[in-house]
Amino acid sequence: MTIPFNLAYLKEPMNAPQPGLAAPALLRPARRAASATSSIVREILKVTQRPDVISLAGGLPAPESFPVEALRAAFDAELRDEAQARQALQYSTTEGHAPLREWVAAQETARGVPTCADEVMIVAGSQQALDLLGKAFVEPQAPLLVESPTYLGALQAFNLFDPTYRTLPTDDEGLQPDALDAALARDARALYVMPNFQNPTGRTLSAARRATLAAAARRHDLWLIEDDPYGELWYHQAPPPGLRSYAPERTIRVCSFSKVLAPGLRLGFVIAPRAAIELLVRLKQATDLHTATLTQRAAHRVLASGLLDTHLPRVRARYAQQCAVMLEALATAMPGGVTWTRPEGGMFVWLTLPAGVDTMALLPGAIERGMAFVPGAPFFAGHAPTNTLRLSFVTVPAEKIRAAVAVLGELIGHTLSKHRESR
Ligand SMILES: Cc1ncc(COP(=O)(O)O)c(C=O)c1O
Repeated sequence: MTIPFNLAYLKEPMNAPQPGLAAPALLRPARRAASATSSIVREILKVTQRPDVISLAGGLPAPESFPVEALRAAFDAELRDEAQARQALQYSTTEGHAPLREWVAAQETARGVPTCADEVMIVAGSQQALDLLGKAFVEPQAPLLVESPTYLGALQAFNLFDPTYRTLPTDDEGLQPDALDAALARDARALYVMPNFQNPTGRTLSAARRATLAAAARRHDLWLIEDDPYGELWYHQAPPPGLRSYAPERTIRVCSFSKVLAPGLRLGFVIAPRAAIELLVRLKQATDLHTATLTQRAAHRVLASGLLDTHLPRVRARYAQQCAVMLEALATAMPGGVTWTRPEGGMFVWLTLPAGVDTMALLPGAIERGMAFVPGAPFFAGHAPTNTLRLSFVTVPAEKIRAAVAVLGELIGHTLSKHRESR
């Protein structure tokens, strides 16, 4: 079988020839656009939509968890009354639907960080917030601090503004804040961090490290961009308080309704000091005027009804069970020398193979045998080890997780024995 699959071009800028794109001479993109790369995850997803491939590659939430009935009723209610429907279909404010902003502020306040609606802005998915933050804070070639590894989609968003990345090492407790010294922080404005159930590793930043990180950010005058789409998806225990509770004056908290309601709504929010919100609002105005009025109103209706009180415990239980199946499958199938993270929430587990194994090279063989994963290298902004990979476990039934992990374990086993023979 030939695999219609060429990963090499994904790392090339757009002025290199790519399948399906017009010849560069005709396209003549701006330099900024020419540097845009396609997400490897999206490219892999295209291949793995084939029914014969079990994909542990995607970052999609389980569709069975979408509150379809509640959303249908909410959209219907918004459109039922004529006068109200006309409001729901009208342009609205860039900051977002006021009752939804108030709901977000009340939630954050209830978590112990007093917040008012002026400090909240609604965005079209948290990915939009990352784009706006790139526009707001990234100067060409200026340093931007990120974890190693970090969220691939954030790198895609920030790359357009041409930063020079400086990376912070991570271990099982997440980012290592002691590495944030004066040399690393010099001339940097911001640090992008995912404290909870990080994408791609599933790791969580310990409470002690959150405090140390907040103190270091103060010392070095840095904005902390706290990206937290997974914080509500804990399995048995909520994660430590967010970075805003340690340094509210310098934290820009980016959250999403994608994983707690549904990603197709394209709804997220930013909580930040008022001056930062005002700046982001001006930038958003130039981007899309505002987030969809009808969607915001319907989502608010669902949230205000208290749906999450019953909905989230179900999603958490489901994901916890899926994660347990994945960890058990890994313990059964992986050869010696392979290690993996033990997530306490979220959707991902991160594998480290013995040094020298190239997971990008393993992928075509894995797809040929009917499973897919995401190689780890694209998640690194700096030096990228070749021997890591990410698995997602929330969309695939238990027996398929076991089957796919068994295939992967066998493939890694063969590769390791070939390595040993060639030595
Ligand atoms: C860490 C992280 N940030 C942001 C996003 C973007 O989410 P959305 O735009 O759907 O809110 C994702 C999506 O998977 C993510 O994993």
